[in-house]
Parts: sequence; C-alpha cells; structure tokens
Amino acid sequence: SQYQKGVKHLMESGLHTIPKKYILPPSDRPTTNSEDSNVAKQNLQLPIIDYSELLGPRRQQVLQSLANACEGYGFFQLVNHGISDDVMSSMRDVSGKFFDLPLEEREKYMTTDMRAPVRCGTSFSQTKDSVLCWRDFLKLLCHPLPDFLPHWPDSPLDFRKVVASYAEKTRYLFLVLMEAIQESLGIIEGKEEEVTEEKNNILKDLEDGSQMMIFNLYPPCPEPDLTLGMPPHSDYGFLTLLLQDQVEGLQVQFQGQWLTVQPMNNAFVVNVGDHLEIYSNGKYKSVLHRVMANAEKNRTSVASLHSLPFNYTVRPSPKLIDEANPKRYADTNFHTFLAYVTSREPKRKDFLDSRK
Ligand code: SIN
Ligand code: FE2
Repeated sequence: SQYQKGVKHLMESGLHTIPKKYILPPSDRPTTNSEDSNVAKQNLQLPIIDYSELLGPRRQQVLQSLANACEGYGFFQLVNHGISDDVMSSMRDVSGKFFDLPLEEREKYMTTDMRAPVRCGTSFSQTKDSVLCWRDFLKLLCHPLPDFLPHWPDSPLDFRKVVASYAEKTRYLFLVLMEAIQESLGIIEGKEEEVTEEKNNILKDLEDGSQMMIFNLYPPCPEPDLTLGMPPHSDYGFLTLLLQDQVEGLQVQFQGQWLTVQPMNNAFVVNVGDHLEIYSNGKYKSVLHRVMANAEKNRTSVASLHSLPFNYTVRPSPKLIDEANPKRYADTNFHTFLAYVTSREPKRKDFLDSRK
C-alpha cells in the first residue's frame, strides 16, 4: 500500500483545522479520559535514579530504588548517566535537522515495510490505525552497527557520526542497567559473587541484541484536543531510553490516571518494556503511555529500544518461577510481535494477554 507523507508535510499546506482522519472518537480524546478535568494538567514526578551512584558504594540503596521504580511506575528518570550534554544536544540537533529536510529527501525512506532497516513514517501504525496520529518518525536499526550504518541517512551533515556514537553509548547504558535490574530482581548476586550461568546467558544474549532508534516529531497541531501524538501503548523490548526536549507531551498511566512527565534536561526517561515484563515473570510491568499533541510548539524525542536478537525467544527467568510463582507468560519473540502489530491496530497491552 502507499505510504502517507506525514503531518509536517500536511501542516506546510497551511491548515487551521485537522483533517477528519486524525479526529479520535470522543471517548479516546485526551481531555475526556477522566471525570476530573484537572487531571490532564497534573504532572508526574518520576522516580530519579542516579546512574553514578549505581556504580559506587550506594549501589544497594540504588538497586532498591530501581526495584521500587520498576514495580511502582514502570518508568524512571536516569540522571548522571555519563553521556555528555554535548552528545545529548548534538542528538537533538541532528534529529531536528533531519525533520527539517525537504520532503523529497525524507521521502526516500518512506515505506510501509515494517522490516526495513531505515524507515520514515507517520502516525503509530499507519497501515492499521483507523484514526491517524499527529506524529512523524524515522526508525533506524542500530545493532550490529556495521550492518546498518551504511543504510542510514547521510544528511544532515554528521547525522551518521552523531547517531552512531549516541547509539553505542545508550546501548552501553542499557547493558549496565540490565545487569542492575537482574540484581534487583534477585536473579544474579552482587559483583563480588560467583557469576552464575544465567547471568552469562541473558547478558550475553542482550549484548548481541537488537537496538532500534526512533526519532519522533510532533508538529504544532491546530486542534490538539481532538487527536494524539501517540495512542496509549507499551513498548515491546526490555527497556526504552528516551531523550525528550523541553516541550511537555509524554503522559504515563499512573494509578488509573494520565499524568504528564515533567521534562528534565539531559536526563533519560527509562521505561520497562513488554519483554522485561515477561522476563521478570510480571514483577516489573510495562506501563501504558501516550503523547499529547500541542498547539504551539514542535516537540521532538528520540527513543532507543533494546531487546534480544529478533529471532530469540523471550521467556520468564527460571529463577523467578517456583510453586508460589508459576510461569505467567507464554514464550514469545519479535516475529510474533510483528505479526501481532501488523494484524491489529494500536498495540495496547492486550498483546500480553498471551500470558498464561
Ligand atoms: C514513545 O512512546 O516511544 C515516544 C514518547 C515520546 O515521544 O515522548
Ligand atoms: Fe513508547
């Protein structure tokens, strides 16, 4: 089927109202999701995890905070992560410049093929969404880098260099976080202890794992109350590391309400994905989130999604299964997930209803 050219292109034609195909039914609109009209304005202070302390003498306390964050919110802000402000702002810079390229340039990468290593698109899943979302994106496969880098856009200037270095750095953070998360789940013991078989397995598999980088652009929207930048969804992988700019938009479902995440300069918003929910046998849950459109400002974000290699099976850790805690999820893999998203529309958490 033919691809859509996206909302940025649409806005360049000078619209004052949004086209019908972007208008959500009243029950799905952002401001009508709750009886309380103040809810949409409420902010959520996410737990803060200090990466540098994770590597120091306070590791045990930080592991406890990490466990609380993953169980209570499914989200946290990662600060002092060691990726310099320079690298973070270069990323925001090349990402903004990419979306500023003329349509002809971005159009080279537009396809509805979900398996393309480089893909420009719009909405959430444009071939399936019955109502389109106010979002354009660029998706890049990142690991192993030498396989994919030659396919990436080579403009704007330095795009490949900046994104490659950022991809490697976020990937390293992901692996350190996953080791900490395994420790927080009691799957592995502290660094001094004997390294267990399973640690070798899953961490090694994750080192060979998939990484997908998604650049998002949410252009100003003339009628932000009628549509969404992204519909409610959970992320498929183990963890997502999100770099967002200073424009609010991300909302997280917390205790039945949609709350706005306060942007924190140069921090990563990290969230639990479906695969970590499965791996932790439900101890840590992926949490629904969505993105609001807004009338005034461009909003950009870059999400880095990490998981096992695409053809590997994801299953609950045997260490977390016993008589009191039976296996709660069926085994799955990325191909099952792709078949799922291409066969139904917006991926809600019912994907995980393959749970046993
Ligand atoms: C996402 O859900 O992956 C994107 C969130 C955002 O743009 O803040
Ligand atoms: Fe997401």
